[in-house]
Amino acid sequence: MRSIALGLAIIFCHSAFSDQSLSDWISGQRKIAIHNLMANISPPGAACGAVVASPSKSNPDYFKHWVRDAGLTMNLVISLYEGASDRTWRENYFQRMMDYVDFSRRNQTTPNPSGGLGEPLFYANGAPYTPGWGRPQNDSPAIRAMVLARWANVLLDQGKVELVKEKIYYPGLPAHTVVKADLEYTSHHWRETCFDLWEEVRGHHFYTRMVQRKALIEGAKLADRMGDGGAALWYREQAKQISVEIEKHWSSQKNIIETTLHRDGGVDYKHSNLDASTLLGILHADTFDGFFPVYDERALATAEALVRTFHGMYPVNQTGEGIAIGRYPEDRYDGNGFSEGNPWLLLTAAVAEFHYRVAKGLRVLGHIDVTRANESFYRSVSHGLLKSGAHLKAGDPAFDSIVDNIRDRGDGFMARVRRHTGGDGSMSEQMNRYSGFLQGAPDLTWSYAAFLVAAWER
Ligand code: NOJ
Ligand code: NOJ
Repeated sequence: MRSIALGLAIIFCHSAFSDQSLSDWISGQRKIAIHNLMANISPPGAACGAVVASPSKSNPDYFKHWVRDAGLTMNLVISLYEGASDRTWRENYFQRMMDYVDFSRRNQTTPNPSGGLGEPLFYANGAPYTPGWGRPQNDSPAIRAMVLARWANVLLDQGKVELVKEKIYYPGLPAHTVVKADLEYTSHHWRETCFDLWEEVRGHHFYTRMVQRKALIEGAKLADRMGDGGAALWYREQAKQISVEIEKHWSSQKNIIETTLHRDGGVDYKHSNLDASTLLGILHADTFDGFFPVYDERALATAEALVRTFHGMYPVNQTGEGIAIGRYPEDRYDGNGFSEGNPWLLLTAAVAEFHYRVAKGLRVLGHIDVTRANESFYRSVSHGLLKSGAHLKAGDPAFDSIVDNIRDRGDGFMARVRRHTGGDGSMSEQMNRYSGFLQGAPDLTWSYAAFLVAAWER
């Protein structure tokens, strides 16, 4: 009795202590991240509503509006809006969202080299970006639709039906509002190959298909709300067909979700087909309907493969807590040119978020089934104890301790993010694989957004 009590006390003190310091850092860093992220929305020199990927104008020039980065950033601004208690801030976030709606519609109507809505980026002043580029990137309009459909729901809940009809979703063709146009584009073009989110490979991508599917499902709900029932049926039918294609990305032989199928252009050296963007697809496009939930055995298997690969690959991962995660093992992009790839802050934060969400998801689900596919993951979080065929139920002490370990492992990735963040809280795109120093675009908007989402999920 006595020794049990003592044991618990020690465990409690230890975790309270270590949680405290990481938690303290996170709460300070949250304020800096919000500040630096907001500074990249409509900055001086950019059009109102533009979100620059980074303030950096040379080496690399990221002072442009990437549709994907902007959407993921503004999705966070919706959360900030919903959580704001201060009225001035609430109004500020509201205005930023409406500026983004207008700028997005302007992007859609600006003639561009993609000739459609899959154009990945624009100059910060809204002019088309005409140099050669990996285009189209069809995740981009899907992300824009996903985020603005969420915003439309916020407005509808406030009774602003006319505003939504005017600017976001007007039922009727030809589409002349931003979400309706993106849904029409996505529902008619998802079968075509396009460039991936890393702008390098043309083919069918797990990430792109996941966000397309979610955009169409959320879009269908919005269409129903707006009295556009026929369109809702069509969007749902396309989403269903995309789901069938998404399943094909699982390779039981490699035990990973393969990032690209049917490559027909772009770089050809991604031999492993292992890519952290598959986890981003699961995180960004969860529809909470049982399709690829975070704790899906295929997601866990892929996460484990990524963690092991990058652990062994980056010298910086040989010391210190947590593992820094990169895009894919064969990556050569160093943040400004091509030499050697490095770990990325936004991906390390995303893997933290993944672990937090798996832990939470398993608690709700109430059981763990260890399978051939996810065994490597569960062995890692159980010191090798859990083997294929094991079943644990909520209430078993073992279930609780595994779920706690998963959550703590998430904290390891957050500790890794902390280790490489600048002393002033600044976050670039990458950290050097040997020295750990920040590298690539400074103050990357997406790095701040990814950190904030992970902090929120924690
Ligand atoms: C090449 C990189 O590989 C790609 O991911 C990046 O988006 C572009 N350059 C733009 O910087
Ligand atoms: C490089 C990344 O590969 C791409 O996903 C991103 O959109 C751009 N940089 C801008 O941040």
